[in-house]
Amino acid sequence: MSAKSRVGILGGPNLALLGQREPELYGSVTWAELEQLCGEWAGELGLDTVFLQTDSEGELVGLIHRAGRECAGLILNAAAYTHTSVAVRDAVLTLDIPVLELHLTNPAAREPFRRQNLLQDVVTGGVFGLGTAGYRLALAGMAEILAQRSGGN
Ligand code: DQA
Repeated sequence: MSAKSRVGILGGPNLALLGQREPELYGSVTWAELEQLCGEWAGELGLDTVFLQTDSEGELVGLIHRAGRECAGLILNAAAYTHTSVAVRDAVLTLDIPVLELHLTNPAAREPFRRQNLLQDVVTGGVFGLGTAGYRLALAGMAEILAQRSGGN
């Protein structure tokens, strides 16, 4: 598939422990299982995915830059960096591809410090609070955005 149908799915810190980490909040699906599911959901939409995770802020910045070079769109769960990282925000601002922010939980309904969000005003849109099913919806939304951008709709 071409870069025109490639969607980057990036995960920030602690998401590699999905399935083990606070399962009452984040569910029992592992990060590896989520990668597999996203590949299947993307395939149904005519998209393919580059699925990567890092615990490091600097590496996440580099992966966002890479998505800008290699992908038509980005689904970003920056995890805790959502609430703290000017560097991740600035990296998103370098992109001219659509970016959907994703959270498995609804951060605004949790501890007060999660209400600070440095990304929400610089992304195209977002999905939160729907668990791993949110990735399916984000991919469907991204397919719509990319089809509109290419004049397909
Ligand atoms: C999260 C929400 C963040 O507040 C938290 O730091 C995470 C996961 C989510 O997917 O719900 O690590 O991004």
